[in-house]
This record gives sequence, structure tokens and C-alpha cells, in this order.
Amino acid sequence: MELLTYKTPDEAAAKAFDIIKEGIENGNIHTLGLATGGTPLPFYKIFRDSQVDVSNVSTVNLDEYVGLKDEDENSYHYYMNKELFSHLNFKQSFLPNGMADVLEAECLHYESILQKHPVDVQILGIGSNGHIGFNEPGTPFDSLTHVVELTESTREANKRFFDNEEDVPTHAISMGIQSILAAKKIILLAFGDNKADAVKHMLEGKVDESCPASILQKHPNVVVLADTKAASMLKEGIVRDK
Ligand code: F6R
Repeated sequence: MELLTYKTPDEAAAKAFDIIKEGIENGNIHTLGLATGGTPLPFYKIFRDSQVDVSNVSTVNLDEYVGLKDEDENSYHYYMNKELFSHLNFKQSFLPNGMADVLEAECLHYESILQKHPVDVQILGIGSNGHIGFNEPGTPFDSLTHVVELTESTREANKRFFDNEEDVPTHAISMGIQSILAAKKIILLAFGDNKADAVKHMLEGKVDESCPASILQKHPNVVVLADTKAASMLKEGIVRDK
């Protein structure tokens, strides 16, 4: 894994965008994997302001809450439209349908979408407990898209986006760890002190299911773009730019 640290999230987001822009412009990115949450916001700002031509690029998102309509302000459909899709001309965009009548069938359907649109570059954030997507600690590394019961710590972390704590959904559909690892390249963004423990385990700890992101050590092409706070617990000696 390659680690680059930056003073600010904005600088790290600019680096992520440079990688994506180059891939789009040289025709190497047909499908882009996207994430939600607070972390990618500076990246999406640079992306939408660039007005780069994405008419040949499809997108797939990692996850969606169960039970929120697309137009619900807290759904990831809404978030993606607001932050990115309404500003750029993507060919097509896919997110799991958290309103599906049969969620297990939706998970299989989403896996078939991923088979048809193999991800060239996947953007990831990381939870303070090491989760990627909504794959909480203990999720098998060979998991595919599945229905997840959100942990209290994840619901707690995400309640900042909701008016009332009880409005935070209890379940989500998430790409599994194996589905995420199928991406040819992964760019993981990590910002802030509260990510420092997880970043340390991901990069320097044992590969085990207690830290889902630790499996990224086994992926051949991962770059971690962290701010100095998220990288603050790492041992000296890891190669860093900037
Ligand atoms: C979002 C996602 C999550 C977040 C993680 C960090 O699609 O899959 O894994 O990346 O929870 O969230 P933030 O960025 O809000 O700290």
C-alpha cells in the first residue's frame, strides 16, 4: 500500500482528483466506484467544479440505507445527486436500492451490476472502527453485496446528518469486502484524529476481520491519502510524500 500524507483534506482531495482526472482523460476509467459520508466532500467539490467530461464514465456506489426514498435528504441517492451527479454528465450511475421489496434479491441484482461494470478506481473512506462501505468489524473478507445491521457506533457517527437520532436507519445495503477488493485500484481517503487508530491498524496491523480495512494490505494497488491527523499514529519510516 502506498501512503501519501497531506497537511489538509483539501490537498489530499486534490491529489485524488488528479488521479481520477488523468484516468478519465486517458480512457482508463470506465467505471468509478464512489463513497458517501463527510470524507469525500472536498473531493466532490473539486470534481464538480472541474466540469471534466464524464460522458463515457459509469459510477457505482458502495452503499445505501434501507428504507429511505431516493428523494429523502439523508439517502445516499440524494447525497450523490446533490454533490456530484446533478453537476456532471456521467453515462449512468448505480446505487443499491434500499427501498426494494426483497432486499436479498436487490443484493444479487447489485452484484450483477458490478459484474457488468467492473470498477476501475474505487474511492473509499474508513470508519473509526476500520469499516469500509458498511462492512463492520467481523464481516467476512469474502462477503459480497449484503444487507447489514448497522452497529451502534456507526449509527452514532452518522446521526450528525439526521434531525433525530431515531431517524438513523438500522440497516443498509453494502457492497461486500470481496466486491470492493475487485476494483483494479483503490484510493482511500482518511481525515481527522478520529481515524488515526483505524489508519494505523489498516496499514501496520494484522490483517484480520476485526479491522475490515486491513484486508487492503493484500490488494495490489491501493493508495491511502491521509491528512496529518489521520496519519498521526503511524510509525516513522513509512514513505510519505509532502
Ligand atoms: C460511505 C461509506 C462509509 C464511510 C465511513 C466514513 O459510503 O461507505 O464506509 O466512508 O463511514 O464516514 P465519514 O467519511 O463520514 O467519516
